[in-house]
Amino acid sequence: MDMIQVGLLGLGTVGSGVALTLEKNREWIEACIGRPLRITRALVKNKKDYGHLELPDDLIITEDIQDILEDEDISIVIEVMGGIHPAREFILQALQKGKNVVSANKDLIALHGPEIVRTASENQVDFLCEASVGGGIPIVLPLQKSLTANRVEEIAGIVNGTTNYILSAMTEEGLSYAEALAQAQKLGYAEANPASDVGGLDAARKIAILTSIAYRANVTLDDVQVEGIENISARDIQVAGELGYVIKLLAVAKKMDDGVVLSVHPAFVPARHPLAAVRGAYNAVYVVGNAVDDVMFYGKGAGSFPTASAVLGDVMEIAHHINEHICGKNPLLATDAMAKVADASQWKSPYYFRLIVQNRPGVLAEISRTFARHGISIETMRQLGEEISAELVMVVYPAAQYAVDCVREELQALDSVERVANSIRVFGEISHE
Ligand SMILES: NC(=O)c1ccc[n+]([C@@H]2O[C@H](COP(=O)([O-])OP(=O)(O)OC[C@H]3O[C@@H](n4cnc5c(N)ncnc54)[C@H](OP(=O)(O)O)[C@@H]3O)[C@@H](O)[C@H]2O)c1
Repeated sequence: MDMIQVGLLGLGTVGSGVALTLEKNREWIEACIGRPLRITRALVKNKKDYGHLELPDDLIITEDIQDILEDEDISIVIEVMGGIHPAREFILQALQKGKNVVSANKDLIALHGPEIVRTASENQVDFLCEASVGGGIPIVLPLQKSLTANRVEEIAGIVNGTTNYILSAMTEEGLSYAEALAQAQKLGYAEANPASDVGGLDAARKIAILTSIAYRANVTLDDVQVEGIENISARDIQVAGELGYVIKLLAVAKKMDDGVVLSVHPAFVPARHPLAAVRGAYNAVYVVGNAVDDVMFYGKGAGSFPTASAVLGDVMEIAHHINEHICGKNPLLATDAMAKVADASQWKSPYYFRLIVQNRPGVLAEISRTFARHGISIETMRQLGEEISAELVMVVYPAAQYAVDCVREELQALDSVERVANSIRVFGEISHE
């Protein structure tokens, strides 16, 4: 059969990994798809920066997108340049010209996924984006295909390597948040401006994509309630450990009676739960389906070759569709249906509280009464410290977020409470370790 020709937009970390992996595994890849496959053109901003890469002689590097869009022999375009503009325009133009597209660009897909998928459908071509969530971890296609017989009850992902690295360093090395962030930046796990990672926005984009696929209905970024890890202290991490938990930044989609709740938040994860064992820059996505029960996908959430593995898997999937003349027949996302998003304030789960209180008689009773007024029962209460101030640590039975917010406010107003140091959702069951 004829050769499949591919245009690559971007030759950076991911793009170079794609080109080099295709060279390394060419024989196997071509045997699997039953025909030759070549990246014939690659787009960059500055050609002169790419002399050092050992690329195939027949790969033409260009600074002009038209060289790829106008090349009728190119049937698959891989977008790994990042950003919203001009990536969105390049992808839409490629689709309109009848080219299939693979993208790793979660920022773009979280914002413009439905428009891109609609354009792909209208032009009878494929759009795939396995690498946009979890780097090398297969999760997009498993949700779209292998798990599709399930009603998905819950997705809980550790999908941001930067925050997981920071929280792991705080847990394992006893570092403060600032020290762990500085270490992550030094080792290349965090960017110079880490705001979208530590603030939870990157994870929010990924859970929006996964939810849209798992529930066959779109959600927008605004549907995701987002809280980052900036307020997690070394003390919270230490207390979590003493109570049998590990703190993780979770991106969660949870099916409720009236829709799906979407949230990114730090959580106390019971130390026995498989998500608690996901360390450093690794990622994992835990999915609960009503037939499969629970499954977890784990691996490297970023990096040149792991991400290239996901991108090339999509390219090979499209090559099969080209062989079978079925491109554009099975869209990745619903193009117009919007998911029903439930009110997150009604979502109940156990919570951890840490308060700094005055160390005098009657304080505990006053605090217990505040929780009781909102129907919240205390499972564990520990008082630490013998000075004028004491630290009070509590784990409470499942409570709705609005009740927790009210309790926080009322506690903060009590004379006996110097400060509510933190309140953090507990994931799953209360730990009894
Ligand atoms: N890095 C990872 O581990 C990883 C993992 C999962 C997903 N992703 C996603 O993959 C995408 C690429 O990430 P990356 O880390 O590979 O980025 P990168 O290293 O910064 O590479 C970007 C490449 O795109 C080119 N480029 C950017 N804007 C361009 C423009 N306007 N015109 C022409 N070329 C342009 C750059 O060319 P110049 O060098 O000439 O500017 C460079 O070759 C992003 O969407 C990212 O979110 C990355």
